[in-house]
Amino acid sequence: MTDFDKAELSADAWDEQTFPRPQESDFDRVVERAISRRGVLGGILAFGSGAAAMAAELLIAPPLRAEGLAAGFPFDPIPTQTDAQVHVPKGYVWDVVARWGDPLFSDAVGYDIAEGGPLQKSDRVFGENTDGMETFRIDGRQVVAINHEYVNRKTNLPAAQKGKPADAWDQRKLQNLQGVTVMEIAEQETGWAVAVDSRFNRRIHHNTPMLLVGPAAGHDLLKTDADPGGSRSLGTFGNCGSGKTPWGTYLTCEENFNGYFGASGEMQADLAPGYERYGISPDGWGYEYHTWDARFDVTQTPNEPHRAGWIVEIDPADPDSTPVKHTGLGRFKHENAEVVLAPDGRVVVFMGDDERGEFLYRFVSNATYASGEPTDGLLDEGTLYVARFDDDQTGEWLALTPETTGLTQAEICIYSRMAASLVGATTMDRPEWIATNPNAVEAYCCLTNNKYRGLRMNAGGGAMAVGGPNPRAHNRYGQIVRWRPHGKDYAADTFDWDLYVMAGNPTLYDDAYGGSANINAGNLFNSPDGMAFDSRGLVWIQTDGKDSNTGDYAGMGNNQMLAGDPVTGEIIRFMTGPKGCEVTGLSWSADRRTMFVGIQHPGGSWPDGAGLPRSSLIAIKREDNGLVG
Ligand code: FEO
Ligand code: CA
Ligand code: CA
Repeated sequence: MTDFDKAELSADAWDEQTFPRPQESDFDRVVERAISRRGVLGGILAFGSGAAAMAAELLIAPPLRAEGLAAGFPFDPIPTQTDAQVHVPKGYVWDVVARWGDPLFSDAVGYDIAEGGPLQKSDRVFGENTDGMETFRIDGRQVVAINHEYVNRKTNLPAAQKGKPADAWDQRKLQNLQGVTVMEIAEQETGWAVAVDSRFNRRIHHNTPMLLVGPAAGHDLLKTDADPGGSRSLGTFGNCGSGKTPWGTYLTCEENFNGYFGASGEMQADLAPGYERYGISPDGWGYEYHTWDARFDVTQTPNEPHRAGWIVEIDPADPDSTPVKHTGLGRFKHENAEVVLAPDGRVVVFMGDDERGEFLYRFVSNATYASGEPTDGLLDEGTLYVARFDDDQTGEWLALTPETTGLTQAEICIYSRMAASLVGATTMDRPEWIATNPNAVEAYCCLTNNKYRGLRMNAGGGAMAVGGPNPRAHNRYGQIVRWRPHGKDYAADTFDWDLYVMAGNPTLYDDAYGGSANINAGNLFNSPDGMAFDSRGLVWIQTDGKDSNTGDYAGMGNNQMLAGDPVTGEIIRFMTGPKGCEVTGLSWSADRRTMFVGIQHPGGSWPDGAGLPRSSLIAIKREDNGLVG
């Protein structure tokens, strides 16, 4: 496989090719536990959507009518699309706020259609491939913090190089266009636009100084020659989903960090199990950073990969602040971070690890949060847990401690995946975003898909048996699992769970692959990924799936955003993205009259129609300027 070929692979496809997973040995178990569509509907869809179609005795909890949720949806659903545009319902309009390469500062050099933007000042423009985002109201200004997950190397570097850096400056340009943008935006007559030169504007990229704090800070596995104390690192990587703390800071989540590292020679043997579990390979993912910078060469800097894979806290109000990597929140391929408070004020963070057969995590702080009180240590001192889902629709959070794992506290943080494998956590169908309902004590997690469910092991050799919240072998459509903590306490160790929806294609299948009862020909989608609740209690679901619109995916069209009623289970389509894109990242303006959505890796030449496609942040409003969330 050439580097050019690697540039075409998704992160998970690359990991699979590099580290092929063992096949599931107990095929009988797969067959035995395969669940018919009828069985799934009767036994698993219990809280909401299935409720209407189910016998009352199957209900685990009564449906809750969300306080303040308007009856029905405030828009008419739209059909699927396969074109190169964004579509929204009648009565709504959309506009581009910022595109890859747009200057954040007046001294930045503008976008270059031939080369995707020059190196000069590439750390002072809006980065590429937007992902998670959160909005903040600071000093009366509207500030957005938004991730730039990765770069398309072929379009950022001169086409003749086919996406392979030719020198350290090419590498630096790629590094500059990833990470995070913090920027002020303002609404004008012509729509929302970047407030160029705002004092809040800031780019955080692959060389920005960071602090490492929490239980693993200072551990030998985090030390390098450049940082013998193991407490200061450079850069944040694979910035996927996001989170927001009650104290007004931004959380950016490092997901596919592994592909940035490579090896010029031998890899340290004692670190091999960790490298393998996290997908660190000699070749890297084609970024070639290790060719130009010893920091990314694990032969020379073996511990550098341990300094990525964390959740990073950024203060959007202070552009001079140093981002903080919180090791207490564990190291894995972090999707997003959903932060809620337990009734007693402890901080609870729900986190998914997006890889086939990896796990769902929770952190519970030791101390409690109170508005205006110091927040130091709230994301550092506490307990990390991992979820076990039982077939009887209950589950338990399993504490990862020295007693339960035999590992030290620092090792639990650095090798969270291995710790989780030791306590019997449930292997999941790629946990993506987690969101909590503002009107009920319940959390939702998108399990995007898992084509090897029932067929192979996970990266740690754990079975990916069919069952529980992962009920379909060769799961190509995905589902959303939901749990309600016992005692209405997010810090409780036990919960009930159900499936809010199983995506599928009922026009093709009448078994489990047809999806759950709330899937119909009018709302087909696959691979739920981004997710957030609005203030009214509607759950918004974004997709990152196959958009071929053929075969198993016939009738699903381009990637899209849908809205769901958590009580009735009804789901309808709100938006479709341009062909080739993923719809990811969602937040609202302070006045709730604008919804901000990210369009990542569009195809064609969207939105300019002038050569290269440019990932963008868009704003969606009602024509009557009414509330949109
Ligand atoms: Fe970056 Fe799992 O999505
Ligand atoms: Ca995602
Ligand atoms: Ca995804």
